[in-house]
Amino acid sequence: MISKENQSGLNAPSSPVHAPFKLPDLTLRRHRLELEMSTTLHEDLVADHEQMLGIMRRARLALLLGDIAQARESLGALHELQQAHIAHEEGALIPRLPASARWAAKVYLAEHGKLSAMLTEWRHALSTLPSRLSDGEERLALLDATLPLQHLLEHHFEREEKGLFVDIQV
Ligand SMILES: [Fe+2]
Ligand SMILES: [Fe+2]
Repeated sequence: MISKENQSGLNAPSSPVHAPFKLPDLTLRRHRLELEMSTTLHEDLVADHEQMLGIMRRARLALLLGDIAQARESLGALHELQQAHIAHEEGALIPRLPASARWAAKVYLAEHGKLSAMLTEWRHALSTLPSRLSDGEERLALLDATLPLQHLLEHHFEREEKGLFVDIQV
């Protein structure tokens, strides 16, 4: 005699018809979700890089025009974004670098230290200047002096986009 429970299927072993279909479906969905999250994170990090280069461009344009007050404001914004971005990379990304990584953690950490130090020096230098500079030679000298920071930013971002972000698959 078949009990009510068996008739309803509650005590029956897992169905051989449904199980093989359910598992791949869930796995596929999870992989797709991970891929979407990963793509979004990568895009967010690259967008941060583009935003920092954009702020640097605004700071350099302000120096070209002799608008030191505007350059100070831009470098302040760059500092805020750079600190948050570096904290995220050092807290969540760099510790996940595999042994086979294209560049070791110390390379990224050294560049972060240098970027932070250069930006701090720049902000300090601008804090000692008047809010407007009319002398063309002075403006040109200031603009030229931003080139090492500009180049290190570009170089560092390129290294991360080819190395760090690829090596940890964000
Ligand atoms: Fe970085
Ligand atoms: Fe970065």
